[in-house]
Amino acid sequence: MSLPEETHSHGPLTFPDNFVWGSATSSHQIEGNNINNDWWEWEKRTQPADKQSGIADDHYNRYPEDIELLKSLGHQVYRMSVEWSRIEPEDGIFNQDAIDHYIDELKMLKENGLKVMMTLHHFTNPMWFTRKGAWLHWNAANYFERYVKKIVPIFGEYVDFWITLNEYPGYVFDAYGRGKFPPNVKNKFKMIWAMWNMSDAHCKSYKVIHKYDKKAQVGVAHNVTSYNALHKHSFRENVAVWVLDMFGNHALYWLTGIGTHDFLGLNYYYNRYLDGGKSFVPRVYDIETSKKDVSDMGWEVRPEGIFDVMMDFSDYRKPIYITENGIASTNDDRRVRFLLSFLKEVYHAIAAGADIRGYMYWSLLDNYEWVEGFTPRFGLVGVDFENKQKRIVRPSAYVYKDIIKNNGIRHDLLKLLGHSIRVEEVVKTG
Ligand code: BGC
Repeated sequence: MSLPEETHSHGPLTFPDNFVWGSATSSHQIEGNNINNDWWEWEKRTQPADKQSGIADDHYNRYPEDIELLKSLGHQVYRMSVEWSRIEPEDGIFNQDAIDHYIDELKMLKENGLKVMMTLHHFTNPMWFTRKGAWLHWNAANYFERYVKKIVPIFGEYVDFWITLNEYPGYVFDAYGRGKFPPNVKNKFKMIWAMWNMSDAHCKSYKVIHKYDKKAQVGVAHNVTSYNALHKHSFRENVAVWVLDMFGNHALYWLTGIGTHDFLGLNYYYNRYLDGGKSFVPRVYDIETSKKDVSDMGWEVRPEGIFDVMMDFSDYRKPIYITENGIASTNDDRRVRFLLSFLKEVYHAIAAGADIRGYMYWSLLDNYEWVEGFTPRFGLVGVDFENKQKRIVRPSAYVYKDIIKNNGIRHDLLKLLGHSIRVEEVVKTG
């Protein structure tokens, strides 16, 4: 049998022109000293010292250095969040110093040629809002809208893409459904109510931003999961897959209306199997006890999963931006293989018709990983938390830089998916 000639071309896997490459972070996870939000209050009250955010990456002071890093690593887009609790530390009172700080950061990003994707809410709430009942308050969406109305005209000129809310279905599940995140409520009805209010907050923000700029690009960063039946022919497992897919992946767009999304922001981390072997109602299969490849978070590393969800979401016929995808690992070789194997699937999804316009690796920096503290290492750039938060650029960052520079994956890089060669042999590090 002979293979088609192009099979032997050893050419690169080239992405579409204008595809944007970059990375993502969030304010509370990197800024440090976000003393006016509900996470800070909860950490102080319930967490051991090493699981409190403290000065985190000290990004609030070191942003010029981090922007320099973004630039030197070739990133084209930076997804960042602004901290509501800094901008509006008290009910209806806005802090000009915080606003000026972000203007400065945004200006610097622009001067360095970066596109900005700005997230307006990434898991944290100002304490005054929490004291009122946060997302359970009947007026919650209006409070959020007031903040959005204030900042959009101020930051708008620097922003290329807006993310109103980060992963809010997952957030309401953690904060109001299973009580893992503050305010630690465990009540399914309250969870649904919070979900309703946040959907409303998104819709209101969408209108505010479009009133300011008709051409604005607005979306949500939505955490999507590829679901599978553990036993291919199990009827119950396949029903469970369908139900979770509908509610976990798609309900957000029914609640908000697909018309309030100029693009789909998709965060991809999870591949899940539904197991009906031990109970009548299938449960999520415990991957950590399986022999599968898992990250330091205990999440399965399954590149084909990103292909599956991209194909599924391409049915909405909206541009897609991968707003987060990454691996927690102290072994950077794993991150290199993660990047290559996931991007190879993204390439195939585009070739198969998905309109994917950009990719943002999570995360630029090691950071404060919520309840897990600082142990999980997601960064292309490591942070030495014992040594004045020193930044250490990892080899994976140079592999990614090479991909960005070539707008695709050179054939040589694909060899890194095996284990016999080292990054230095195919990419210039440093
Ligand atoms: C969140 C990030 C988090 C990352 C890794 C995403 O769900 O948006 O804040 O650090 O996952 O857990």
